[in-house]
Amino acid sequence: MCGIVGYVGPRQASGVLIGGLTRLEYRGYDSAGIAIMSHTGLEVVRRFGKLVNLASAIGETPVPGTIGIGHTRWATHGRPSEENAHPHIDCTGRIAVVHNGIIENYMDLREELSATGHMLRSETDTEVVAHLVESYYDGDLTAAVSRAIKRLDGSYALGIVHLDHPETLVAARKDSPLIIGIGEGENVVASDIPAVLEYTREVLVLHDDEVATVHADSVHVQALDGTDVSDPEMMHVEWDLDAAEKGGYEDFMFKEIFEQPKAIRETLRGRMCEGGDIQLSELDMAPEQVALINRVFIIACGTSFHAGMVAKTLIEGWARIPVEVEVSSEFRYSDPIVDDDTLVVAITQSGETADTLAGVREARDRGAKVIAITNVVGSRVTRESDGVIYTHAGPEIGVAATKTFTAQIAALYVLALKLAQAKGTVQQERIEHLWSELSRMPDLVETILEDLDGLKECADEYVGANSSLFLGRGIGVPIAMEGALKLKEISYIHAEAYPAGEMKHGPIALITEEVPVVVIATQGHTYEKVVSNIQEVRARGAQVIAVATHGDDDIRRHAEHVLYVPATTESLSAIPATIPLQLLSYYIAKARGCNVDQPRNLAKSVTVE
Ligand code: G6P
Repeated sequence: MCGIVGYVGPRQASGVLIGGLTRLEYRGYDSAGIAIMSHTGLEVVRRFGKLVNLASAIGETPVPGTIGIGHTRWATHGRPSEENAHPHIDCTGRIAVVHNGIIENYMDLREELSATGHMLRSETDTEVVAHLVESYYDGDLTAAVSRAIKRLDGSYALGIVHLDHPETLVAARKDSPLIIGIGEGENVVASDIPAVLEYTREVLVLHDDEVATVHADSVHVQALDGTDVSDPEMMHVEWDLDAAEKGGYEDFMFKEIFEQPKAIRETLRGRMCEGGDIQLSELDMAPEQVALINRVFIIACGTSFHAGMVAKTLIEGWARIPVEVEVSSEFRYSDPIVDDDTLVVAITQSGETADTLAGVREARDRGAKVIAITNVVGSRVTRESDGVIYTHAGPEIGVAATKTFTAQIAALYVLALKLAQAKGTVQQERIEHLWSELSRMPDLVETILEDLDGLKECADEYVGANSSLFLGRGIGVPIAMEGALKLKEISYIHAEAYPAGEMKHGPIALITEEVPVVVIATQGHTYEKVVSNIQEVRARGAQVIAVATHGDDDIRRHAEHVLYVPATTESLSAIPATIPLQLLSYYIAKARGCNVDQPRNLAKSVTVE
């Protein structure tokens, strides 16, 4: 996720900006840049790669000046490169902009701006902001920024400077965080608290649709209509740097679990057009071409493989195309039946997993079209595939995948709906109903995250377990598998997942009072069957933890613990059902004293076979 730092005050801005951006390095980035208002004009320095490249460029040719903006970029639109690095400037070179977020309507705005003579130089969505401010500017920078952002659809945190106002920095936000550290005779704008802690612990929290005009000794906050916000939210920060990097959460994993509503929202953003068409230009296929697809192969590893299994249920159910899901390391050596009527979907959060990349090459050699689903712009899979669908989860630092998993499922919902729409296998009315349910997903996840009491208590009871069983049916099978994977990855408790109906054919022999059984028992067409399976394990002494739908009071009779999730359509239940399992694993692992962010023997990206 991009980092923003802006400075106004008596110090040399370049040092403050580099220092602040260094404090945001943990967020991950691929390039960096600063813009400083110096006596010679607006100086912009940008470099691809790590901050050290930018710092050494500034070291060689210092950029004096006491007001400026800086940025570390995590690419979303346009590959990682110096040209796409921020800050971006307008045609006159007098306005500079740094941005965090996604501007959905940037293509329309680019066209409009180009048609009126603006020269856009990068592939980014951000650059349109500089040109919009330029076109609306008539001497009042704050007013121009307010007018410009009214034109933006999507999310943004922005820092903007203009040479005509050598003592002013304008900041604004919507759906992307931005704070202002209030110092003594200096102010520091930043996307996150660690960047300001060296200067102050007093922080103004900018809200959505607020625009701040920042000077060295004042901050003036306005609403978009120009009215004053007289009591902006202030907070005093108690955290140390380590806690601040984690946003006050104990671990990155925990923070990332809480970032899921945003990750899902960003991944779904802009995917439904006004006319009811699912927008997925990345597929780059006309409906007639989609009609020719007679098989989908999904390849992936680890958690991404489980997202692939969820997608199988969706694509088969909605688009009626047969889907095979294969772990990449098997696919590549399996002489797969893949030809040019096969669509291969490679799911990999890192975009660098060696086996998945090898599978992509194998599939393309056999004539298949390959679509990658990844979280990392510019990663290898994006260069080796025919099309890329990005999840917009932001960098994930915890080794065990959480927010990238639910964002992958969100992206796969979009893909499955698109295939169904192109094939005409689901009526438009139903597509729109599913879409409106899908749009509620971030809110549903939020409600689960708001009530953690029962979860902690439940986790406390199973801290001493040595082995566990996870059961589900239908879409609940991959969720059970992901729940089991999470538990074994971070708590080192043996966890096995099985389709609930298959349990009698083996795992039932393992059941004792010491083996907790986690069952996905959300509402669906096999609910009664799942309840029967629960009775089977309980008859053998098992302790049952059920993930069930709010309102299902009856399930309490069958389980020691019930983890409730909000009701949704059965096919969309994968995301809500996942959240309590992530948290259960987290709390058990913490109580066992495990390092949840860096579990033993595991790597975030497995670049070897
Ligand atoms: C590693 C990670 C997992 C991840 C898997 C696949 O094992 O620890 O969290 O699910 O790789 O990674 P990918 O980047 O291809 O999704």
